[in-house]
Amino acid sequence: MKKMMYSVGLMILLTAPIFFSCQKRTENGKVEMNVKKELFGKTSDGTAIELFTLTNYNGMKARIMTYGAILVSLEVPDRNGKLADITLGYDDLAGYLKNNPYFGATVGRYANRIAKGRFTLNGVKYQLAQNDGENHLHGGVKGFDKVVWKGEPVKEANTVGVKLTYLNKDGEEGYPGNLSCTVVYKLTNENALIISYEATTDKATPINLTHHSYFNLAGQGNGDILNHKLMINADKYTPVDAGLIPTGEIRSVKNTPMDFTTPQTIGSRIAEVKGGYDHNYIINKKADEMGLVARVFEPTSGRVMEIYSTEPGVQFYSGNFLDGSITGKSGKVYRKYYGFCLEPQHFPDSPNKPQFPSVILNPGEKFESESIYKFYTK
Ligand code: BGC
Repeated sequence: MKKMMYSVGLMILLTAPIFFSCQKRTENGKVEMNVKKELFGKTSDGTAIELFTLTNYNGMKARIMTYGAILVSLEVPDRNGKLADITLGYDDLAGYLKNNPYFGATVGRYANRIAKGRFTLNGVKYQLAQNDGENHLHGGVKGFDKVVWKGEPVKEANTVGVKLTYLNKDGEEGYPGNLSCTVVYKLTNENALIISYEATTDKATPINLTHHSYFNLAGQGNGDILNHKLMINADKYTPVDAGLIPTGEIRSVKNTPMDFTTPQTIGSRIAEVKGGYDHNYIINKKADEMGLVARVFEPTSGRVMEIYSTEPGVQFYSGNFLDGSITGKSGKVYRKYYGFCLEPQHFPDSPNKPQFPSVILNPGEKFESESIYKFYTK
């Protein structure tokens, strides 16, 4: 369905540090990185949930579990080399089972909203679960974030990772077709977390997969994210109605609080945006090409996160619905704006908006998508 085209510049950017940094090596000359598997907990029906810990040469660590293919934590160095977990979440499985507003989650079969949970495909009307008022959100009542995936470790020359697979059956949450789905998380020695998705189906279906970590580059639970400096590589966005469904219009961000084409603190004009940011931006790049989505800088830690993706859009959500009712990792209370999400994806409600890039996967085609979260400091 989608062809991934890597720009030469991006490849140089991601691989250059291999040649220029002097890396610590083990006795047999190999770079030290590893993937460890352990039991994280059990669901109420006794299913064992595994946790995979990926560690790279710099000590950067990503922990991923088989429940929801969720990124449980991401430890990233600050400008002094000190690691902090920069994603919101819980210390244990119980927290995720009880109440998870998509912390770290893999979201599908259709990330974001579908108006009234309805669409028509090849002349057939489908009704999906309505779990956000009258709308369908993030795959329904039991989306990809709430099912148990199969996990296996992956090791390549310069990356460690985990491959997660799930067979999403015909009819689950109302979707047509058996969808066979793979998500691979890989950690590189250049401090990049790469998330790639693949899927095939036996009936035509809409598909839109994304990653839903709430980031706070100062460390999770460490205050709000309003002082983070954000650049979104987008001149345009899709305005929404009161139910957060795109109206279909494509609007310029110019001279509005939506404009992050040059770096702005998230808080600079948030008061002018009713409810806070929860909008889809159209990335300045060809729809299926890998390209820069956003760059975020947190001044106290010096951490910078850059996101690249093959997806045409990104949902920028400023953690508006966090309200202090969740106590997360290390007893930290998550208040309004304590985390932000940048979710590379197709546009919301695309199944009902023929003018938006297609989200339909047909039998015989292969869905492919990739997003890269690259970290450095300044
Ligand atoms: C959506 C928000 C939603 C949140 C749930 C975001 O992707 O855009 O509207 O409330 O996910 O955590």
